[in-house]
Amino acid sequence: MIVCTEKYNDDELRAILRKKLDPSRYEHSLGVAYTACSLFLAHGHGSTEELSRAYTAGLLHDCAKCLDEEKSEKYIKKYNVELSEMEKAHPFLIHAKLGAVLAKEKYGITDEEIISSIRWHTTGCSDMSFTEAVIFSADFIEPNRRQLPCYEEIRPLIYRDLDKAVYLILKHTIEHLKSKGQPIEEHTLQAFEYYKSR
Ligand SMILES: [Fe+2]
Ligand SMILES: [Fe+2]
Repeated sequence: MIVCTEKYNDDELRAILRKKLDPSRYEHSLGVAYTACSLFLAHGHGSTEELSRAYTAGLLHDCAKCLDEEKSEKYIKKYNVELSEMEKAHPFLIHAKLGAVLAKEKYGITDEEIISSIRWHTTGCSDMSFTEAVIFSADFIEPNRRQLPCYEEIRPLIYRDLDKAVYLILKHTIEHLKSKGQPIEEHTLQAFEYYKSR
């Protein structure tokens, strides 16, 4: 595949990610990359340029996921990443914001669509661009994920009606967090309200 960075080719980018991520996270990233490509194709975005975007965003979306605390703090300081109270209380959320910064600063990504899709892949947000919605959804449904009952409804739908699938993913996520007594991030709630009325 052609990747959307002049800094590395596909083989080099994969080799770096294989080192930076644990094995299951690396497999998941490949799963998101190929699922994103299939969604782009299904929705009529099959040019080489568009598929490169889908693939690169999928490959890099969790690039900050396996950083240890020390490294994570180092990059947060170095790149002046501002964290919300929610992110401070739930550090697993940080990898989305930090991943977007690292995609640009360390992996040479200049495509704003890729950067913002990494930024919003965990929480979602209202009125997502096509790439953002694809990476958000592909992260949820890619084949390596633990199977969930809601997949039966979401997986066939996602190739026909992406907005509806995004809505169902948000609904499932909110129900899941509520059942565990965990707080829901504000952008997820805003996204849910937005996609409910689409
Ligand atoms: Fe993630
Ligand atoms: Fe992910």
